[in-house]
Amino acid sequence: MKTFHIGVLGCGTVGTGVVKLLLERGELITRRIGADLILKAIADIDMDRDRGVAIDKALFTRDARQVILDPEIDIIVETIGGTTIAKELILLALQNGKHVVTANKALLASEGIRLFSKAWEHGLDLGFEASVGGCMPVIKTLRESLAGNAILSVRGILNGTCNTILSKISDERCSFAEALREAQAKGFAEADPTLDIEGIDTAHKLAIIVALAYGTDVRFGDLYVEGISRISPMDIEFAEQFGYRIKLLAISKMVDGAIEARVHPTMIPGSNILSSVNGPLNAITITGDATGDLLLCGAGAGMMPTASAILSDIIDIARDLMNASVGRMPTLSFQPGAIQRIPILPIEELVSHYYIRFSAIDQPGVLSKISGILGNHGISLESVHQKGRKSNADVPLVMFTHLAKERNVREALAEIERLDVVCDHPMLIRIEEPNGN
Ligand code: HSE
Repeated sequence: MKTFHIGVLGCGTVGTGVVKLLLERGELITRRIGADLILKAIADIDMDRDRGVAIDKALFTRDARQVILDPEIDIIVETIGGTTIAKELILLALQNGKHVVTANKALLASEGIRLFSKAWEHGLDLGFEASVGGCMPVIKTLRESLAGNAILSVRGILNGTCNTILSKISDERCSFAEALREAQAKGFAEADPTLDIEGIDTAHKLAIIVALAYGTDVRFGDLYVEGISRISPMDIEFAEQFGYRIKLLAISKMVDGAIEARVHPTMIPGSNILSSVNGPLNAITITGDATGDLLLCGAGAGMMPTASAILSDIIDIARDLMNASVGRMPTLSFQPGAIQRIPILPIEELVSHYYIRFSAIDQPGVLSKISGILGNHGISLESVHQKGRKSNADVPLVMFTHLAKERNVREALAEIERLDVVCDHPMLIRIEEPNGN
């Protein structure tokens, strides 16, 4: 029986999941590949910790390079994370003729094209299914299943931490800070949650999706990224009163030759399927011009779901090796020579419906001042709602706009914020009406 040898770099939560699957699924894997996969070595600085899996101590080394340079090893799995050492090790692996599988979204979002080109140059496979959406087969779906489609739009809930926090605020009307504290206490949120709550982790995943969907060399800095830390129970309550839910969405669309690629809290109709995806679950809807809408939903993180995605890449590579067909699948679905640089639409050019909440003094003439400024900037209002009555004190004033250009909305809000009768920064949330805007 043919055998392929695997080296794992980084034996934290996800790495341990991969090791567990490789050790426990031997028979199933062999039946599926027609070859054996052998776990040959594991590099981690902590060689002694009990990982809850019976791992032969002899497999461990602290030296990742030793694993990469082991001539018997065919496939390197990188689960170290970060963008420095992981990058060096992936490059070293590719230079030494090893196929690579990684879950490293931060690295791929900034250096993907460089790493993919290096793999291509060396005639090697680089798998990254686990980089987006945990167990959901987002990469395979875009690259393979939808290869005959133009991708019209993608909308995804791609961060379990944010979805857990927003679901909790919605269920319990607690503050953002309380919801975050509880998510941290339960282990759903990191001690330093910045990457998650500021939308950066979601944007890393969106950068990878955009590259795959359109065959473009994305500059991460061109994506618009806004997190959820300003979302209050009041906004969630207003959203629900008007039939919406607030979700942190990654959105991408092709509009007149440019790509909308943005991450921000978004109001979506309660009838939209993404509205009912709560807690740590991830989900994504992809609209192809031939397929129409397609939905994937599942665990976006966690040991075994992420390990499952990594193992699927390992199995793909082993199958390619069995059939001498390495490189059959272009990494980004498009041939390397066909990758273009398609412009990303600046957020100021976005045309959307908006929810705007002002905190304004309750006195005659305030509404007309505010709506007058919006009107001067060409913004037409769909509805206006004042909540509560507190003479000469501040009350929330909620407005829903018709389609408006974001540049105009921002200019109007900057002017309105300077009015004496407006007490706080206005809250602006974009509304996404699938099949609408
Ligand atoms: N921290 C991410 C989440 C998982 O909360 O979904 C890894 O991208």
